[in-house]
Amino acid sequence: MKRLITYSCMAIFAMGSMAQNQKDEAQMNRFISGLMKKMTLEEKVGQLSQCSGGFATGPDNTRISRTEDISKGLIGSLLNVSGAANTRKYQEAAMKSRLQIPLLFGLDVIHGYRTGFPLPLAEAASFDLDAIERGSRCAAKEAAAAGLHWTFAPMVDISWDARWGRVMEGAGEDPYYGSLVAKARVHGLQGDDLSKENTILSCIKHFAGYGAAIAGKDYNSVDMSMGQFANFYMPPYKAGAEAGAATFMSAFNDFNNEPSTGSTFLLRELLKNQWGFKGFVVSDWGSVREMMNHRYAKDEKEAAYKGIKAGLDMEMVSECYSKNLVSLVKEGKVSIKLVDDAVRRILEQKYKLGLFDDPFRYCDEERERTVIGSQESRKEACYVSERSIVLLKNENSVLPLSSIKKVALIGALSKSQKDMCGAWSCAEVGKVVTLYEAMEKRGVDINYNDGYDLKTNKIVNLDQTLAAARQSDVVIVAMGEQAWESGEMRSKGDISIAAEQQRLVSELVKTGKPVVVLMMCGRPVIFNEVRRDAPAILCTWWLGSEAGNAICNVLWGDYNPSGKLPMTFPQHNGQIPLYYQYKSTGRPTALGGWCAKYIDIPTEPAYPFGYGLSYTTFNYSNVKLLPGDGKGTYTRVAVTVTNTGKYEGEEVVQLYVRDEVASITRPIKELKGFEKIKLNPGESKTVTFDVKDEQLGFYNNQMKFIVEKGDFTLMVGGNSRDLQEIKYILN
Ligand code: GLC
Repeated sequence: MKRLITYSCMAIFAMGSMAQNQKDEAQMNRFISGLMKKMTLEEKVGQLSQCSGGFATGPDNTRISRTEDISKGLIGSLLNVSGAANTRKYQEAAMKSRLQIPLLFGLDVIHGYRTGFPLPLAEAASFDLDAIERGSRCAAKEAAAAGLHWTFAPMVDISWDARWGRVMEGAGEDPYYGSLVAKARVHGLQGDDLSKENTILSCIKHFAGYGAAIAGKDYNSVDMSMGQFANFYMPPYKAGAEAGAATFMSAFNDFNNEPSTGSTFLLRELLKNQWGFKGFVVSDWGSVREMMNHRYAKDEKEAAYKGIKAGLDMEMVSECYSKNLVSLVKEGKVSIKLVDDAVRRILEQKYKLGLFDDPFRYCDEERERTVIGSQESRKEACYVSERSIVLLKNENSVLPLSSIKKVALIGALSKSQKDMCGAWSCAEVGKVVTLYEAMEKRGVDINYNDGYDLKTNKIVNLDQTLAAARQSDVVIVAMGEQAWESGEMRSKGDISIAAEQQRLVSELVKTGKPVVVLMMCGRPVIFNEVRRDAPAILCTWWLGSEAGNAICNVLWGDYNPSGKLPMTFPQHNGQIPLYYQYKSTGRPTALGGWCAKYIDIPTEPAYPFGYGLSYTTFNYSNVKLLPGDGKGTYTRVAVTVTNTGKYEGEEVVQLYVRDEVASITRPIKELKGFEKIKLNPGESKTVTFDVKDEQLGFYNNQMKFIVEKGDFTLMVGGNSRDLQEIKYILN
């Protein structure tokens, strides 16, 4: 009876909140319709125009926002303006306009605001969705306190090509995991109520397929089948829309022979019509005008025409809309309905943020002072930073450093606040805790040497460096990339770490002292000599404001590393693009002989997707199938995981699936589930994965999601290579 009462109360509550939502929506529609009736065509076009208020994050930044245009209601949004006082100034200008429509302020808050969080790719290595969501929550709170309403994040582009510098902004190579991360980040940024003043609009970008730029060359063409797009690149965008992302950003690249910014298929047919997306689409930087560079529009007027027809709602920076849309409508070439649809979509987001009630609700300088850089933010940053670190090698249990007295610390990256921030950073650089500082705070006896020149990557003072190593208990080498080496317009033909940096490690290993390498990078990098010679290697990425503390906590065992690689690390540039979910081909590599391989380089990666060690060890046993529930769960696969080492540790238990025979060619395996578990020494836990349509299905070449009967192989393990299999037949 009690349960019945509970359920009926829940049902009544659900019906009540649905009725309330409908009432709120009706009220919003009435308000916006009333406002739009008063707007002139010029004012409507103004809402579709966004200007850069300060620094440029792209070329041709022609129209630095002029307050007089804002006061005339001819600009609807600014990017690259932040700060409660600064945004208030511009908002006051907007309040002088005839209809007082508030401005929307956007900024690239990609991995934390003033408290820097790990790179998104690093955060993805945590495989801790809750921590990732909390990181976005912190970023939203700090950004909102600084007058921002909107971030151009999360970037959800899947990429298999580590030459592309922007892999640092995403969640790696896997669409299943990338979809879950997209949802977590949208929820973290938007919360469950955009009317709260500590939530901000998210932006799913870059739609679509930007991570598949040919040859990993940024801004390059993208060319793929619809089946390839649907199965490997589309899912995180779709997941972001389903998570309720308020905005999307169109990509620079062409897709199916059309610039994404002018693609009616992407923006109107797929996003708005099929997925039912109700938010708005903003162009990436000058990509409306760049349709001329694509040679898809002969002039700005045609670019404006193709953009609005395709469903591109707000034009960032280039002024094709502001210069041409009014005349296009007056000439009857563009229906006012298209303009009205775009305007409504934008005004709805401003309404949901509560900006019509109070345009200055995000411009609270007192709140800015108390929220930004809070201890809560730093604690969250350290938490997820520790979990983003991946242990790649640990011979003879060099780590953790328990009773270490003297440390030879080598490498200027260990002192570089700027490089710990990485690209696309809003962090207060001066408040970044470096490795050197954190070790000092820990009371470590440090014998520091640069070891190599960060600019020339040449070894310096080798004798002095080797002497320091000989006088110490352990050698810690901070090496890898500087912040400028990964990010937008940072594609590399060679992702190898400088030979001299690697040679220095080999020389240090010859001293006979234990050497720990910290690989600091924004992407998968190649370091074969270090992999061969160094006994211990941690991939520490760029971890942001708490970098030094997190790395020390892992080095000294306060936290046992649990990260797993969200992208495959190649052995050789020639292998790229290299990814785990490759297809068998007609001549699988495993067959040998006449098979898919190179004659001059290996085919295997240095480290596979999902790989990461722990200070303890885990054993997988007793893999078995359990009955499904007959209500959508076909079967369940169970595995027992045991901590067989002497440290408490966390393991990311992974489920992969292979469809043995299908109506299209399918990968040899795909991640379709994971669970991060914590085990004490000697403790065992049985992890169970449900196997549903989501695990067995795929998109066919008509982009329809289908499930086919037949043989499947289910695989479980701690990475994408070392797996235990069990067969399953779907009848
Ligand atoms: C940049 C980036 C995009 C960013 C935008 C605004 O060129 O491609 O990710 O959000 O411009 O800064």
